[in-house]
Amino acid sequence: MVERPRGQIAPPPLHRMETDMKIVTEKTIHNTEVERLVAEAFGPERFAKAVYRLREGVAHDASLALVAIDRSVVVGTLRFWPVEIAGGTPALLLGPLVTAPDRQGEGIGSRLMRAGLARAAAQGHRIVVLVGDEPYYRRFGFVRSLARRLDLPGQYDAARFLARELVSGALSGVCGLIGLPDRQVLDKVA
Ligand SMILES: CC(C)(COP(=O)(O)OP(=O)(O)OC[C@H]1O[C@@H](n2cnc3c(N)ncnc32)[C@H](O)[C@@H]1OP(=O)(O)O)[C@@H](O)C(=O)NCCC(=O)NCCS
Repeated sequence: MVERPRGQIAPPPLHRMETDMKIVTEKTIHNTEVERLVAEAFGPERFAKAVYRLREGVAHDASLALVAIDRSVVVGTLRFWPVEIAGGTPALLLGPLVTAPDRQGEGIGSRLMRAGLARAAAQGHRIVVLVGDEPYYRRFGFVRSLARRLDLPGQYDAARFLARELVSGALSGVCGLIGLPDRQVLDKVA
């Protein structure tokens, strides 16, 4: 143990002193680390969740997949999946969002969220939905009220089903079950 004169403050952990964190588009080389972060955060039970019915057999939107990288290590991940509301209105399903357990509370999740939503808006997407903790996601504009007229396949906790408009009024008059996107969208994001 390093002896320190009385009253001297301990230095911050090394990764906080030398952080060089960047948010970049996920590449194939990141895949294993991304899958590991997601598996560690949500466990094998994740596949039973309602949102996974909308991910099975569908690729995430690679142009919107982001990773937080610090000195070549993936310390955070955010992906979006294309979906369609009531067979006609395109939308994005946000998630999973994960920050490495030893890096939580440093703002990595917030940076991923802001970058992902900005990119989705710039690409012309209008609606984003997710199932997650409202106390966390409300700071990014996700609210329960906008998802009240929407539904997901299978069982889920309605209190955690949230939506956000990227274009004001995008959810006006939109209601119904969220399902898989149409073929053209799938071809575009693959
Ligand atoms: C949720 C998660 C992605 C947040 O990432 P992060 O990098 O720690 O987030 P940030 O540093 O940007 O924000 C931290 C803030 O969010 C708060 N926060 C984190 N998780 C929260 C939650 N589930 N509900 C409410 N607030 C939460 C923290 O208390 C902290 O608050 P503060 O800013 O007032 O101090 C991360 O905790 C995580 O990976 N959790 C496990 C996987 C998960 O639950 N993913 C989200 C699905 S709901």
